[in-house]
Amino acid sequence: MSLKVTDMSPSIGSEVGLGREALLAGTHTAQIRELLEKRGVLVFHDINFSDEEMKDFALTLGAIQDGSTYENGIFKVTFDPEHNPQGLTYLRGTLEWHIDRTDIDVPPLGSMLTPRVLSPAGGQTEFANTYAAYEDLPEDEKRQYEGLRVEHRSEAAISKRVENPTEEQLAAWRSNPPKLHPMVWHHQSGRKSLLLGATASRVDGLDEAESDALLERLMDWSERPEYVYQHNWRMGDLVIWDNTGTMHRVVPFDMESGRRLHRVTLEGVESIQAVA
Ligand code: OGA
Ligand code: MN
Repeated sequence: MSLKVTDMSPSIGSEVGLGREALLAGTHTAQIRELLEKRGVLVFHDINFSDEEMKDFALTLGAIQDGSTYENGIFKVTFDPEHNPQGLTYLRGTLEWHIDRTDIDVPPLGSMLTPRVLSPAGGQTEFANTYAAYEDLPEDEKRQYEGLRVEHRSEAAISKRVENPTEEQLAAWRSNPPKLHPMVWHHQSGRKSLLLGATASRVDGLDEAESDALLERLMDWSERPEYVYQHNWRMGDLVIWDNTGTMHRVVPFDMESGRRLHRVTLEGVESIQAVA
């Protein structure tokens, strides 16, 4: 069956004309998976999923994550300590461009969010297409970056937003050892994307000044408006992103606003390290 798909910009973001019943029926799974890879972010309006419905829909696309930071497969994205005791520090890193879980070899395939409480101002979520950013680089630079490896640390993202962290906080953020990843992710599909974001702390083999300059140049390049879609939340929305081919961040908002989104995360299916 053909889908009504409205592209929000040439390189990223599409609104998909499917309602809640069609999503729950699981009849468009293959098309949704394909569109997700192609467009980076898919937006569905007026879906109004409960937590259970969002999980049921996610399960039509693949396995979902659970664990100590989840409640029954639901992760609460909020600075409100009543709903997420760790959020106030850990989630500050979400204000910076990032890819989720660069501390492991098989990061989540993607995630979906639905809003429960909106902030009156700010709080939009922005997504940047890292396939497009790579593909548009000059050929000589592409070749150069393919040989580079980058160290990722969660601490690098969080510490940009938490002033004067305590020894205890630093120790907790450092409990995940740093991880070296290729700067260019060779996907099983044959496509390539840049693997960067605020967790990228240093380029292996470069001195600090060179490394900082290169990371800054590539982040500036990747944030160019043509690669970015900004989602302005409405109640009832469902947004899914491809965590392997996009970076995302939240636009600053009042941390006391109670803004809360519920997230379901799809298990990763491909390793960053798989293709040399
Ligand atoms: C996330 C995230 C951004 C937002 O859930 O992984 O980065 O808009 N969320 O809250
Ligand atoms: Mn995130």
